[in-house]
Amino acid sequence: MVSYKELGLVNTREMFAKAVAGGYAIPAFNFNNMEQLQAIIKAAATKRSPVILQVSKGARSYANQTLLRYMAQGAVEYAKELGWENPQIVLHLDHGDTFETCKSCVDMGFSSVMIDGSALPYDENVALTKKVVEYAHQFDVTVEAELGVLAGVEDEVAAEESHYTRPEEVIDFTSKTGCDSLAISIGTSHGAYKFKPEQCTRDPKTGILIPPPLAFDVLAEIEKKLPGFPIVLHGSSSVPQEYVKIINENGGKLPDAVGIPEEQLRKAAKSAVCKINIDSDSRLAMTAIVRKVFNEKPGEFDPRKYLGPARDEMQKLYEHKIVNVLGSDGKA
Ligand code: G3H
Ligand code: 13P
Ligand code: ZN
Repeated sequence: MVSYKELGLVNTREMFAKAVAGGYAIPAFNFNNMEQLQAIIKAAATKRSPVILQVSKGARSYANQTLLRYMAQGAVEYAKELGWENPQIVLHLDHGDTFETCKSCVDMGFSSVMIDGSALPYDENVALTKKVVEYAHQFDVTVEAELGVLAGVEDEVAAEESHYTRPEEVIDFTSKTGCDSLAISIGTSHGAYKFKPEQCTRDPKTGILIPPPLAFDVLAEIEKKLPGFPIVLHGSSSVPQEYVKIINENGGKLPDAVGIPEEQLRKAAKSAVCKINIDSDSRLAMTAIVRKVFNEKPGEFDPRKYLGPARDEMQKLYEHKIVNVLGSDGKA
């Protein structure tokens, strides 16, 4: 049993309270490898932004949970080395699907876990979430839960269609489970294809898809029921079209990839939404640069020569999100 406190990590409680009161959101960036982690920490340290490092089930099986935990511990020291005196870094399990997975993460030093029972019948979601909360809270580890179903398909996280969170359930759910934050469904989804072309309109000049707006009315109703309660948005990548273009121009094939427009995320960040999850945008940034280097320098075979520029681009992307979308710069 290792406490995250010994590793220099923090849980989300104070971070979320400040974000809700201050009208900004904390970035939750997924990581699977060293380059992503370096880029996240450099961006957060440079911009003095609190940050949540997210580890998904896919990341755990790709990179190994123990290794990722030690990498996060190293990240705290790296942040200090970069001159960030008091790093505010959370190590979070993304989309935990069983009590055992959540317990294992709590026991090995994660400071926050998500139990995603959103695909279960309501009462089973309540029971599972409550069990995780009871365990995690003994160690001051915070728990994110989910109500409502996100559309989209991304590896282990799959749902055919979205069901918006029902505002009439949120008081009952949060009071019965004792969860610390609640992920909701208001039209976002995982991956780089968040909307079907028929759900969008098309810009006549560029041919780029313009997605429909998020259900801000549902968010407003939830906020009314749970004033000040921390709300989480998954599936919040914007799918920057400049990366899609670079990928497609360098041998890739991402037709009609579309994300959530940044002005909508900016609006959400000013509300009770205090955690915004971004994974796909970082994947796109990395893929775009790697494809470009491969295309332009076919003789290159030193991984540092393509992963290095990819890492720099990801840092640029993370800093942009922190400063121009979430507003979390200067908050840590
Ligand atoms: O919520 C989904 C995240 O983007 C993680 O995806 O399971 O492919 O690591 P992954
Ligand atoms: P994106 O696929 O939009 O980046 O969402 C990531 C996410 O929600 C991780 O939990
Ligand atoms: Zn998610």
